Amino acid sequence: MSQLATETGALNLSQGFPGFDCDPALTALVDEHMRAGRNQYAPMTGVPVLRERLAQKTMAQYGVSYNPETEVTVVSGATEAIFAAVTAIVQQGDEVIVLEPAYDSYVPAIELNGGIPVYVTLTPPNYAVDWSAVEAAVTERTQLIMVNTPHNPTGYCWTRDDLNQLARLVQDRDIWLISDEVYEHILFDGRTHQSLMTHPVLRERTFIIGSFGKTFHITGWKIGYCLAPVPMTAAFRKIHQYVTFSTATPMQYALADYLSEPSHYQQLSAFYQRKRDLFLAGITNSRFRFIPAQGSFFQCVSYDAITTEPDYNLAVRLTKEIGVASIPVSVFYHQQNDYHILRFCFAKTDDVIQEAAERLSKL
Ligand SMILES: Cc1ncc(COP(=O)(O)O)c(C=O)c1O
Repeated sequence: MSQLATETGALNLSQGFPGFDCDPALTALVDEHMRAGRNQYAPMTGVPVLRERLAQKTMAQYGVSYNPETEVTVVSGATEAIFAAVTAIVQQGDEVIVLEPAYDSYVPAIELNGGIPVYVTLTPPNYAVDWSAVEAAVTERTQLIMVNTPHNPTGYCWTRDDLNQLARLVQDRDIWLISDEVYEHILFDGRTHQSLMTHPVLRERTFIIGSFGKTFHITGWKIGYCLAPVPMTAAFRKIHQYVTFSTATPMQYALADYLSEPSHYQQLSAFYQRKRDLFLAGITNSRFRFIPAQGSFFQCVSYDAITTEPDYNLAVRLTKEIGVASIPVSVFYHQQNDYHILRFCFAKTDDVIQEAAERLSKL
């Protein structure tokens, strides 16, 4: 859809990346470290100062301790971390529970490792986790459950009750967890991020995956990290070592410096809440229906009052006819469930958000 947006010159609210640049102070730090000659391979596990800052930030934010030497690894984006974690755990015939709609790299990573995805469906308008359905999906062969909070594409944010339900389900079983928390700093309306690491039962069996791309508006740098208990980190690093070996050195030093100022990520929820509200105010008198996103930088809207056409067709038509690109949510389901929902990314400049909302309101 991004490609179609480029071809047609449409406002691109489809793919999930910011339509504005990062803080120039961050690029200045990269420049500084490049000029200081930090341009050779970083250690396989990440530069020590960045791992230490990540451990400090995690302690300050969630009150949970990770050893920077043995439990923190810097990788080339969350997508690499997801692949490495899945590969470390999944073997031929293992079942992996996937809550869908789901980010598109989970299932290929599972299948490439011979795993079998077992789907649990989340449905609009709330997309809350149906715990009886998750429980029903667990079998003797369940090896792993994939978690994503705040959730792409729906914006759903896990509650404390979700963590408790998951803990109850896994505590007497040999089930591992991957928790994709790349939107950990983007939650709205006073919500706090419920990281799986904050539940002792979950911390011991979870790969927590984060990404600087979403937090600092640098998706093109592809730098992420994985926090996990010692034996899990050891297994994870065996994969990471032979996928990318290590991650861009000057960027790691720059991020370590930049992380020492917590306001750089603490203001992100307010920053994106204002953009979400700008978009919602713009479409409030339209025929689209929505529940405000709880987190992430995506807003799902229902178009049932406008047309009965399939979501994919409508997304293409809106891109071509009114010049607003979105993503049809059916693409995040393995059987393309179509609930007539489009996902709009509001990580865009205010003028793009307002113009897009204005065009959508005319439908
Ligand atoms: C839920 C989710 N996980 C992972 C990623 C990928 O992150 P990265 O760019 O760090 O690989 C994305 C990017 O859109 C995402 O939405």
